[in-house]
Amino acid sequence: MELLFDEAGKQLTNFHLSQKVKPTRKLTTEDGRPIENKTALLTAGPRGPALLTDHVFIEENAHFNREMVPDRVVHAKGAGAFGHFKVTHDISRYTKANIFSKIGKVTPLAVRFSIVVTNSGTPDSTRDVRGFSIKFYSEEGNWDLVGNNFPVFWIRDPMQFPSLIHSLRANPVTGLRAPDAFWDFASLRPETMHQLLMVFSDRGIPQTYRHLNGFGVNTFVLVNKDDESFFCKFHYISNQGIKNIPVHKVPMYAAGDPDHARRDLYNSIAEGKYPSWTMYIQVMTQQQFIETKAFNPLDDTKVWPHKDFPLIEVGQIVLDKNPSSFHGEVEQIAFCVANLVPGIEPSMDKVLQGRAFSYADTQRYRIGPNFKELPVNSPLSCSSNNYLIMGPMNSKYMQKDGPAHFPNSYSGPQPDKEKKFFSQKLSTSGLVDRYDDVDDNNFGQPKIFYEKVLNPDESLRLAANIAENLQHASSTTQNLMLEHLNRVSEDLGQNVKDGLNTRQRLRQEGKSTTEE
Ligand code: NDP
Ligand code: HEM
Repeated sequence: MELLFDEAGKQLTNFHLSQKVKPTRKLTTEDGRPIENKTALLTAGPRGPALLTDHVFIEENAHFNREMVPDRVVHAKGAGAFGHFKVTHDISRYTKANIFSKIGKVTPLAVRFSIVVTNSGTPDSTRDVRGFSIKFYSEEGNWDLVGNNFPVFWIRDPMQFPSLIHSLRANPVTGLRAPDAFWDFASLRPETMHQLLMVFSDRGIPQTYRHLNGFGVNTFVLVNKDDESFFCKFHYISNQGIKNIPVHKVPMYAAGDPDHARRDLYNSIAEGKYPSWTMYIQVMTQQQFIETKAFNPLDDTKVWPHKDFPLIEVGQIVLDKNPSSFHGEVEQIAFCVANLVPGIEPSMDKVLQGRAFSYADTQRYRIGPNFKELPVNSPLSCSSNNYLIMGPMNSKYMQKDGPAHFPNSYSGPQPDKEKKFFSQKLSTSGLVDRYDDVDDNNFGQPKIFYEKVLNPDESLRLAANIAENLQHASSTTQNLMLEHLNRVSEDLGQNVKDGLNTRQRLRQEGKSTTEE
């Protein structure tokens, strides 16, 4: 872990060297007034008092007091970069989306990686789900694919999201992370099992952001030019391969460089080692959707098995440019699952529908109502034309001299009838109610994951990782959790139980419970 000798550490030196040939810029106020002294307060006499007319002092300190935006409510710690997407395979039979219209087509994009339950100081070596969001600056508008590094999610009903996150965050009384609330939630909502096994597996602590896969997780609908629709899942698989941090090395990473993953991304790109991912889709026809009985294809706690729904290659995602302002382009980038383009539509996946509300809502609070005016959030490959006006930080008349009302007789923007968005043939029926599906085949796919995907060493590490964390829950919660784990596999339940017993004995003997 080299710090000051790497590309990130040399950023200021590189800037300095690049400025040697140019005259040094003169210091000014924000309004451009020259500043002759930047180190001393304006005072009456050398010992004060200070004068209210010291505009230079007041301007800088007042701006300083406002130089943070609130952290994201989840996924606060992250890193970002820019690059492009290039189509390598034709999927126009499934979607009319312009971004996929021909082989070789290149679309610029921005990516932000993140860790879910974090603040800006959390170590990058934390065990948690990683976010992997992509903003494609397409010619038909910005398409945001706001994904994670695992193909499933904790819950299948968005009603539970605030409680899920409350259970994972610090206890509101003590301000300390305490696993008992999380295990209580997980034991009472066993649909969390699939995500839980993945997070406590080796991939729960990825070595860098380059060495993880991405998944759109939720189910989308692709619509082709004949208005035929297909259900779809997005996968983006790392060309660097998967690498994880072994548990015993976490303290070294956390103490040595808590920002190691952010640093790794910056340095890789600065050194010209551009990370890339291969994008694939899984497609389910309307007929297959009706015939799929083993699981609900709109349930994001389930995957679509590869053998039934093979990965179809689409293109390459390459990251080749670091941000020029971390705050402007990474902290204030705003992704939203509702940002879709013609040919890619939402499905009835309940979590996707709940998410479609949350993102822009929090961004209006977190960044401000005109957050889409920031260059990183604006369309890059087309313009935006509408009747939204004014508000805090609005920098221009958004209607480009045109009218602010619709309909109008003054050449304002008109609907684009050829670009129908909801063109999937969607009809719904059913009684309005709250359908709580706590028990919808929660253990089938976790069983396959545990028994068929993990090798014996990975299974043992999974059980140890669970026991290490579960030991902090109450005995009632532990017992309920062991019941659930036994339904995945008696072998897993037994290994976790043994791990809990060993840790209890070690605690009674006053020894450390952390396994080497
Ligand atoms: P396969 O048996 O064809 O492949 C297993 C998948 O599991 C591979 O994609 C593999 O990724 C991935 N994997 C391996 N270790 C882990 C881990 N620790 N955490 C998360 N994923 C991991 O898959 P099937 O479609 O037959 O599904 C079997 C089980 O595999 C599922 O129940 C699910 O738990 C898991 N899975 C399925 C995915 C899907 O979309 N179908 C995607 C990811 C996981 P790699 O190839 O990179 O090693
Ligand atoms: C960020 C809500 C499920 C991936 C966020 C944010 C909110 C949110 C409010 C903060 C956004 C911001 O401040 O800009 C929800 C809700 C969910 C949900 C209500 C379920 C009901 C998911 C799922 C995934 C996911 C299933 C994975 C597919 C992400 C990612 C970010 C994020 C990657 C970080 C985006 C960034 O880098 O700026 N989520 N989320 N979320 N969410 Fe979700």
